[in-house]
Amino acid sequence: MSWQEQYRGRVVLISGASLGIGKELARQVWVNGGMVIATGRNAQRLDEAAQLICRGSDEDARRRFLVVAGDVSKSEDCRAAVDSGLHAFGRIDYLIHNAAVFHFDRIDSASEQVIDQMIDVNVKGCIHLTRAALPALRDSHGGILFVSSISAFYGMPEYGLYALSKAALTPLSESLRLENHAHGVFVGLTYLGYTANEPDKRAINAQGVPQPIPERPRTFTRTREAAARGILRQLIRRQSVALPSFLGHINWVFSYLMPRFAFLIHKRSYRSILWPLTVSLLGLGLPLSVQAQDRAVELTVRVGGLKSTGPSHLVIGLFDRASFPDGRPLQHATIHVDEPRMHWRISVPVATYAIAVYQDLNRNGRLDKSTFGFPTEPYGFSRNYRPLYRGPMWKDAALQVDRDAAIDIHLIAPER
Ligand SMILES: NC(=O)c1ccc[n+]([C@@H]2O[C@H](COP(=O)([O-])OP(=O)(O)OC[C@H]3O[C@@H](n4cnc5c(N)ncnc54)[C@H](OP(=O)(O)O)[C@@H]3O)[C@@H](O)[C@H]2O)c1
Repeated sequence: MSWQEQYRGRVVLISGASLGIGKELARQVWVNGGMVIATGRNAQRLDEAAQLICRGSDEDARRRFLVVAGDVSKSEDCRAAVDSGLHAFGRIDYLIHNAAVFHFDRIDSASEQVIDQMIDVNVKGCIHLTRAALPALRDSHGGILFVSSISAFYGMPEYGLYALSKAALTPLSESLRLENHAHGVFVGLTYLGYTANEPDKRAINAQGVPQPIPERPRTFTRTREAAARGILRQLIRRQSVALPSFLGHINWVFSYLMPRFAFLIHKRSYRSILWPLTVSLLGLGLPLSVQAQDRAVELTVRVGGLKSTGPSHLVIGLFDRASFPDGRPLQHATIHVDEPRMHWRISVPVATYAIAVYQDLNRNGRLDKSTFGFPTEPYGFSRNYRPLYRGPMWKDAALQVDRDAAIDIHLIAPER
């Protein structure tokens, strides 16, 4: 019997199953004949996920997908999810701790509310849900799987709170494995690397407000399907620890065997979104292309050509060579548009940058594109680069900023 077939008739509780990897985990369990208990805070998004996964199926198949809205940081919600699952299916075989919140910023910028939320959801959420489900898992001799991240190996700049919340899962899973071994409960942990995000994914900013996450460069990014497949296979095979990504292995080697070297690499690559790429390039002896400089100057970006057809947002990102145009910007802002010309003023180290900007007319947090991949909302780049046959490259939009400067970008109206 294949490992997929072993999910037939099994009950799997998945936290954070309304989006991203959790939604894909739920889909694969359900498609393989398993019963799903899907949790998440947003009831509507959970229902939409369930409808999408189960569409076209008969009533019996739909009954194998149970949604229970709730917040893992609340112990009563965790107990309710477990009770609803037991009521519907009579047992729970597996628990996957997938729900998490993301926050990328310096530790000194985060509000106390954000610090609490990172710990409450990413760490205490796993504890509450484990405690609620353990009696059922002992009855079924089932398994628990924690979804951690390769950022747990070495604290990265601006990933401090996220990294520590993921690192905490290592001793937590080890202790649980030892405590429950005699009860026949398996406990595993996977250190996931970069995985493709769903467009709706958000990271909370320093004040706890959800912000869109820029698209990731495809290099080194796994699909959600592959990530979910790996997790479900690990659970069935009762493999304690998995490190599915190439970058994860590199990061592990540097972090534990050469920690001083790891520090030097992370220090130099600070502010490069492609830090893991930098790690691997350095490992291969190639030179670093990004170097932070100390002196700060003021940069003002003036944006014209805005449409005034109703409330909209102006989304601006400042990039370096490594992140332009699809990576995570060094700095970004979402500004409510209330004038035909807007400006954004920031302080930046002396360096070369590129800027990408678009007007989010429907405020859905992304640049909408046609079936053929052309933007359907106004957009623009530094040096007013106008794409013709291809997307922008670094040399098209890069500009040296070595003193206080103001640059003008006139938005390009999408072709109709
Ligand atoms: N994406 C990556 O590259 C990557 C890399 C390494 C590890 N991981 C790990 O993989 C897991 C899934 O990541 P993802 O990218 O798929 O995330 P995602 O797209 O942001 O989805 C997160 C899910 O968790 C739910 N959630 C958030 N806070 C919750 C709470 N308090 N209670 C219950 N549910 C909550 C969200 O639904 P609601 O907002 O409706 O609650 C959503 O369903 C996370 O543990 C993450 O750390 C991801």
